[in-house]
Amino acid sequence: MTDVLAVHGGTPLHGTIRVRGAKNLVSKAMVAALLGETPSRLYDVPRIRDVEVVRGLLELHGVRVTDGANGELVLDPANVERANVDEINVHAASSRIPILFCGPLLHRLGHAFIPDLGGCHIGPRPIDFHMQALRDFGAVVDKTPEGLHLTAPNGLHGTKLELPYPSVGATEQVLLTAVRAEGVTELRNAAVEPEIIDLICVLQKMGAIINVHTSRVIEVEGVPRLDGYRHRPIPDRIEAASWAAAALATGGDVRVLGARQADMTTFLNTFRSVGGQFEVTDDCPPRAGVDGRPADPGQEGGIRFWHPGGELNAVALETGVHPGFMTDWQQPLVVALTQARGLSIVHETVYEQRLGYTKALGSMGATIQTYRDCLGGTPCRFGRSNFTHSAVIAGPSKLHAADLVIPDLRAGFSHLIAALAAEGTSRVYGVDLINRGYEDFEAKLAALGAHTERP
Ligand code: EPZ
Repeated sequence: MTDVLAVHGGTPLHGTIRVRGAKNLVSKAMVAALLGETPSRLYDVPRIRDVEVVRGLLELHGVRVTDGANGELVLDPANVERANVDEINVHAASSRIPILFCGPLLHRLGHAFIPDLGGCHIGPRPIDFHMQALRDFGAVVDKTPEGLHLTAPNGLHGTKLELPYPSVGATEQVLLTAVRAEGVTELRNAAVEPEIIDLICVLQKMGAIINVHTSRVIEVEGVPRLDGYRHRPIPDRIEAASWAAAALATGGDVRVLGARQADMTTFLNTFRSVGGQFEVTDDCPPRAGVDGRPADPGQEGGIRFWHPGGELNAVALETGVHPGFMTDWQQPLVVALTQARGLSIVHETVYEQRLGYTKALGSMGATIQTYRDCLGGTPCRFGRSNFTHSAVIAGPSKLHAADLVIPDLRAGFSHLIAALAAEGTSRVYGVDLINRGYEDFEAKLAALGAHTERP
């Protein structure tokens, strides 16, 4: 295997890095560009593999994608056309975003082919909510061994739907389909993550009419035409929290430029309870320039995260949908919890199999026991189904180096943090997977003083 990183651990991370547009908004905004009659401009797009996959799929469908300065992408959908199934299938199993092409392609071409999906292996990750929603709009779904073929023989029509769970992807599916469906759509039990609200901002710029009501109800009035947008995405709050956790676990001090407090308040509360300190610097000069960047990048706001010295505190945390503690913050923070005194409890309620990575932390000296019960609070839908979805972490534990194999994106970053916090040299295998969601992570590690090398 060539994608191995040797990590010489034991050095606290110190320094400044910057996060760009959120992976989980940027990729969806790129798909939204398919709905416009005119070109769209997306600023501050990170160079990560998920963006490359979506770009490849858009280009196969005739969208002209060009790069500008500072991560600007111009997406021109003037010549949207059907793509060759074999060519689409080259992207099979590489990402979950292709499922969101359904509505936009049905509107543009009357037909969509969706390859087998990829994404992180953190549970079965079904697409039943997506398929039911599309059928409710009037789509006909034909499942074949090569993928999904969708048509809309009578067009797509607004509908009333209620999600069984506030799924991020299914909410995006409904939004991307409803904006150009005929009539009004009412979605109940919708997800309201900041990335969803930002996607709604993108669609509103394009001409859509979307009302977000209280109690997870979203109403969309379909319109016959949408145009392109210019949009600067919200910053990546998962990446920001990952570096915060790395600062805490290694006893360091990291300033994350671009990080925004409003999207991270739940994380910041937990970070503070564990004993980490942070300082929000958002008193920078007003944004300037067409791409919305500050006139002087040195003045850019962000959040500084640091370990103040002394002992960290054990906490009980439960992951959940927004405004709860994000499931993607869980794995990086657990590494810091191995350094906290006492028993921490983690109850994962979003994905049923997102604790497998704790075995690797155990091999490095952490004391972590996983359970099938709903520990520490509210019973969730996984308690009844016998999934191992709770963990107790006893700390503090001295971590030692180990050979680690990265299982998925966020767990992968937690392995990296553990290797940075451990004494000795760890070998992290499959490290290229981290490029799916963390731009230039090796350069950022170097900027923070980490000692790593490709052996
Ligand atoms: C998005 O995944 C993110 N991915 C995930 O980030 C994130 O963890 C997740 O939302 C929750 O915030 C992207 O945005 C690309 P869901 P998504 O639909 O949309 C169940 C990362 O590392 N469900 O909200 O796929 C599902 O199994 C990734 O950046 C169904 O049962 O998540 C899960 O238990 C990992 N049927 C729950 O809902 C469905 O049809 C939430 O999933 C759809 C979902």
